[in-house]
Amino acid sequence: MEASNEFILSLEQKLQKVLMPKRYLHTLGVAYLSASLAMCHGISHRDALVAGLLHDCAKNLPEDDMLQQCLTMNLPLSEHEKRIPELIHAVYGSYLAKEEYKIVQEDILLAIRNHTLGRPQMSKLEQIVYLADYLEPERMQPTIPSLDELRSIAFQNLDKATYLVSENSIRYFESTDKDTDPMTYRVYEYYKNIVRKEIQ
Ligand SMILES: [Fe+2]
Ligand SMILES: [Fe+2]
Repeated sequence: MEASNEFILSLEQKLQKVLMPKRYLHTLGVAYLSASLAMCHGISHRDALVAGLLHDCAKNLPEDDMLQQCLTMNLPLSEHEKRIPELIHAVYGSYLAKEEYKIVQEDILLAIRNHTLGRPQMSKLEQIVYLADYLEPERMQPTIPSLDELRSIAFQNLDKATYLVSENSIRYFESTDKDTDPMTYRVYEYYKNIVRKEIQ
């Protein structure tokens, strides 16, 4: 069942209390860009709004605590996620969305789980939240190459936008001393192949 107006407003109120102001603004940007992309690509904009609102619900919690909780509860984490504290909020956020915010729809929980790294064979909702997290209005051009072009492509072709965003992520990580998560390479290869097949 789709979320009611009251539920969406109550989520916004709760999140405004638990997130830092800048994170809350980012959250609203992701939520409403997700809803717009959902309308454009033919899925429920209310589901996209809820997934976008909750995607970073765990972002401002202490990372060590989240890691410990994930390990205690046996929530699935890759070796890379265990080593990079800032990635933990995605898996823990999905858990919180279920337990604290009472979300029962598995596709919304998966969209929260996979919003940072993505995965091959994402649903449209997962792709939309993954892309909206990268392309929301508060993201600035100097830090993301071709931002305007990517925003436009996201409304035309989710697979192509996913391929280009994962390519940007790889370029960014390779330009720093940070490791690129193996999942980012898998996402890049998977969506690059899809886009190639679409062209042929
Ligand atoms: Fe996030
Ligand atoms: Fe985010």
